[in-house]
Amino acid sequence: NTGALWGGRFASGPSPALRELSRSTQFDWALAELDLAGSRAHARALHRAGLLSDADLTTLVDALAGMASDVAAGTLLPDPGDEDVHGALERILIERVGPEVGGRLRAGRSRNDQIATLVRLYLRRHARAVAGGVLDVVDALVDQAAAHGDAPMPGRTHLQHAQPVLLAHQLLAHAWPLLRDVDRLRDWDARAALSPYGSGALAGSSLGLDPAAVAADLGFAGPVENSIDGTASRDVVAEWSFVAALIGVNLSRLSEEVILWATREFGFVTLHDGYSTGSSIMPQKKNPDIAELARGKAGRLIGDLTGLLATLKGLPLAYNRDLQEDKEPVFDAATQLEVLLPAVAGMVATLTFHTDRLAALAPEGYSLATDIAEWLVRAGVPFREAHELAGACVRACEAHEPAIGLDELTDAELAAISPHLTPAVREVLTVAGSIASRDGAGGTAPVRVAEQLAAARERAELL
Ligand code: ARG
Repeated sequence: NTGALWGGRFASGPSPALRELSRSTQFDWALAELDLAGSRAHARALHRAGLLSDADLTTLVDALAGMASDVAAGTLLPDPGDEDVHGALERILIERVGPEVGGRLRAGRSRNDQIATLVRLYLRRHARAVAGGVLDVVDALVDQAAAHGDAPMPGRTHLQHAQPVLLAHQLLAHAWPLLRDVDRLRDWDARAALSPYGSGALAGSSLGLDPAAVAADLGFAGPVENSIDGTASRDVVAEWSFVAALIGVNLSRLSEEVILWATREFGFVTLHDGYSTGSSIMPQKKNPDIAELARGKAGRLIGDLTGLLATLKGLPLAYNRDLQEDKEPVFDAATQLEVLLPAVAGMVATLTFHTDRLAALAPEGYSLATDIAEWLVRAGVPFREAHELAGACVRACEAHEPAIGLDELTDAELAAISPHLTPAVREVLTVAGSIASRDGAGGTAPVRVAEQLAAARERAELL
């Protein structure tokens, strides 16, 4: 006997090369406590089915609980000879209670339904931690928005000045996708809340065990509908990984803005000393490393997702050992997000915005040209013509050497462009006037931004 879970039909033990390749304890030991919880639930199912005596149940449940405390304390670890977490824990259980009682636990289950169940348990737990971290970033964005009231900034498209917006509007535009990511994790949980335990290797169990009871014992809403699906599918894992990658992408887009905003050229923000780093050679440097790590980790999270999808593509039903490769990418995604999110939340919460500079830059780049066009429309001019006339104003400004701003055109210059351009147009040639005029739902007018700020807070509290 090789000590493995499957020695019986083999004349020799596994080769050293196979052992090295096959071993997964270096990462699946992270599931040890969940495996022991699953084993306790399974022991109770065996007992209810009349396959374990009262005394044996007590012996097993007590031993499994003792092992769980030892795992938590870090004193129980796999041996190099153990193939995986399941085999290691069975070996240790048998060492503690003997083969007569310890050898009964494996009846009616397979590592295939065990591992599928444990990964769901692991991801459900980490989904809650990640959602909490995402909500902390949302809170930081919402608090910064609230702290900046009616402060304007240059709104951009194509990275070029487009129209003035409120800083709060821009910050909240980063909060909404993150709120949807938390929604996505909640929606995902409804699909993940079904337990594969009882699926056996693929075909289900013949021993009269009750998968619904095991599911309830482990905090699931119920058992999976199909034992082949229960052991072979990993779409629930891939979906978790997608949401993780999307969170990474959303943090990366926010981070890219922080990186730009912190440059000398933009000069929109100063990073807090506690959330920025220096250079080992250039004494003056203050670098946005958190934002850069967020951007970098987004690439890694996308890789975790695409690696998993590539592993799944082309796998026939039911279980194949390829599925062992699902765990490292998804564990990595959880670990990366759990270290990243608190750092991003702290970085955002401690940003100092240079509102004077933001206000001074807001009308630059002829960002009020649309306001001229829309003023002309309100005066009865067709938009097509209004657009042309506002464009002519920009051209007139650029004809000056050096170029001037739209509000610096004289009454005579405006009238020369069109008789429609009376001096009254000047009422929209201010940043505050432009911003206040965009008062449609979701717009940048202070009343609208105050509304969405309250809505974002409420949404964050409900989640
Ligand atoms: N370690 C495997 C995994 O992570 C579970 C064991 C199933 N192995 C097997 N030969 N059926 O997927």
